[in-house]
Amino acid sequence: MSTPDQSHASQAIDSMLQESRRFDPRPAAELGFAAWHVDGIETYREMHKRSVEDPETFWAEQAKQLHWMGAYEKVLDWQPPDVKWFVNGRINACDNCVDRHVRDGHGDKVALVWESEPVKDDAKTPEPAEIRSLTYRDLQRETARCANALKKLGVRKGNVVTIYMPMTPEIVIAVLACARIGAPHSVIFGGFAPHAIVERVTDARSKVIITADGGYRRGEIVPLKKNVDEACETLEKNGNPVDAVQCLRRCGNQIGWKNSRDVWWHEALDAVDDNCPCAPLDSEDMLFLLYTSGSTGKPKGIVHSTAGYLLYTAMTAKYTFNLRPDSKQLYWCTADVGWITGHSYIIYGVMANRVPTLLYEGAPNHPRPDRFWEIIARHRVTQLYTAPTAIRAFMKWGDEHPAKHDLSSLRILGTVGEPINPEAWMWYHNHIGHGKCPIVDTYWQTETGGHVITPLPGAITTKPGSCTLPMFGIDAAVVNEEGHELPANQGGLLAIRKPWPGMLRGVFGDRDRFVKGYWSRLKDPRTGTPYYFSADGARRDSDGYFWVMGRVDDVINVSGHRLGTMEVESALVSHPAIAEAAVVGMPHEIKGTGICAFVTVKSAWSKQNGGRLPDDALRKELTAHVAKEIGPIAKPDSIRFADGLPKTRSGKTMRRLLRDVAAGVEKITQDT
Ligand code: PRX
Repeated sequence: MSTPDQSHASQAIDSMLQESRRFDPRPAAELGFAAWHVDGIETYREMHKRSVEDPETFWAEQAKQLHWMGAYEKVLDWQPPDVKWFVNGRINACDNCVDRHVRDGHGDKVALVWESEPVKDDAKTPEPAEIRSLTYRDLQRETARCANALKKLGVRKGNVVTIYMPMTPEIVIAVLACARIGAPHSVIFGGFAPHAIVERVTDARSKVIITADGGYRRGEIVPLKKNVDEACETLEKNGNPVDAVQCLRRCGNQIGWKNSRDVWWHEALDAVDDNCPCAPLDSEDMLFLLYTSGSTGKPKGIVHSTAGYLLYTAMTAKYTFNLRPDSKQLYWCTADVGWITGHSYIIYGVMANRVPTLLYEGAPNHPRPDRFWEIIARHRVTQLYTAPTAIRAFMKWGDEHPAKHDLSSLRILGTVGEPINPEAWMWYHNHIGHGKCPIVDTYWQTETGGHVITPLPGAITTKPGSCTLPMFGIDAAVVNEEGHELPANQGGLLAIRKPWPGMLRGVFGDRDRFVKGYWSRLKDPRTGTPYYFSADGARRDSDGYFWVMGRVDDVINVSGHRLGTMEVESALVSHPAIAEAAVVGMPHEIKGTGICAFVTVKSAWSKQNGGRLPDDALRKELTAHVAKEIGPIAKPDSIRFADGLPKTRSGKTMRRLLRDVAAGVEKITQDT
């Protein structure tokens, strides 16, 4: 077994091993809730047992919270590693998040609250921030119009629509419009570069892109349309031309335009009516694909289904955040819609519960480091869901920033994306939750669709740094390579032994990667049935609590974002001066894991070969090059020049050694 990507993690794990603090659930009324959905550990244990021992009855019961357009015939058909949930049922995710609420008489209630980043006056956008609220009726009308516009562009059921947009209400409208007509969406995070768009559009065989002229980030304009134009040019050259680009006018910045391909969002939507019924889709129809990093250089398109995914996100959102419609809740998840957290817990899971969701466009420290706390106070946010990296940054910026604001509306605090170090957990608890709000440290992945190990706020005692106990339907275990469950406190591989509705259905266009990546490494030692392999290392303590240690593959988790080391390596070697590159994680105070790149430079004497001197100018150039190839999130935090990379006899780069070097516990002689 390879070691988990050690970095910040190794120090964090030491402190986690000694962690003895406990925080018991409090009465619902103390936090302003009428009741907890799951009101104690006994209820949790009974429900969990039932969900794992008799999943069909449990999930049939849960499925009643959704609106079905046609009854399913069977709850579960498990032919490992293939699964079908709610076989032959008919359902639509947009209907469940929007239309059914209108039908049920809630059309005028707020579904979405949006606040823009305050931007400079000279950028001709309002200061202070722009705020917009959309009701379920507004969303019904807008998603119908957007869906009709997509149909006019030739989009049919099953055609993948690429979405590369800023965090404005239109990204939610675009996503739900796709769901309305059964066109799977593939959202690409707005921080990715043109090359990443090319890769994803090509792999998904997508012919239509929805984008915007730009998006705001810290007062600057992110040139989204320009990136799309560049990507489209390459796609055309490669023989995969895009048919249409629908472009939202957001910043009013100068952009290129191609009449035969480009259409303005507002013109396209104005040219159609708002009558577009939600399509009755099959339970197993693909709702979306979302690209994420794996151990190879190429991102993989994780496929999610309609019914199973929707039910799983709705169920987990309800229990983890104690979502209750009609109770003045306003839930805020600070993730970008471009990541799975945004899909599941800004949009689908929350909207299916009819609880209003807040969408924020900007950075947490622009224009001031108290931006988040100001927003919480202004809107009276009740549940906040953010990432450890953000919490660590807030700690660094100072306690005075949250202290200035009234955070008394907060009831539950969530965290996701990477292991949270106990210090950050305690700070969140004391300075944001004022010692009263339960913290839900939710462990899950793009592939799991929703939370798989998480505290339930009214039921589970929390321990700082542990994601606690498995969600309903999740048979999680820490096992060894042979699939045997390990005794308490022994580190091993985190596996899930039974199927659950939110699990991935495949890797788009790559059956082999699906089977090999997730279902081949671990199996039931008695029956040989494959287990889901998470690629995370973990241990369980004597109370059965899970402590996730981090990835055991060549994926690093930078600020809660997954990056394949090989993706960064290929970006580096695509620079003419670089002969060889190896990328590993290293401890980073804020990001948790930072990126450390070891590179060997082509000989300085072979100039025609691209040879260069290994100096600071080259370092800067390489950093910019990676940002250009992948996106700013992949920028190395440290670039180290070496004469050669340490190799095993069989020629494999010794990553473990490089990790130690990056962490400062080891030195290599070639290092300069
Ligand atoms: O290593 C785990 C870490 O993030 C990985 C999944 O990344 P991604 O698919 O991008 O999804 C992130 C948002 C769900 C996992 O393999 N991870 C996520 N949440 C936690 C975590 N590690 C420890 N504790 C968590 N709560």
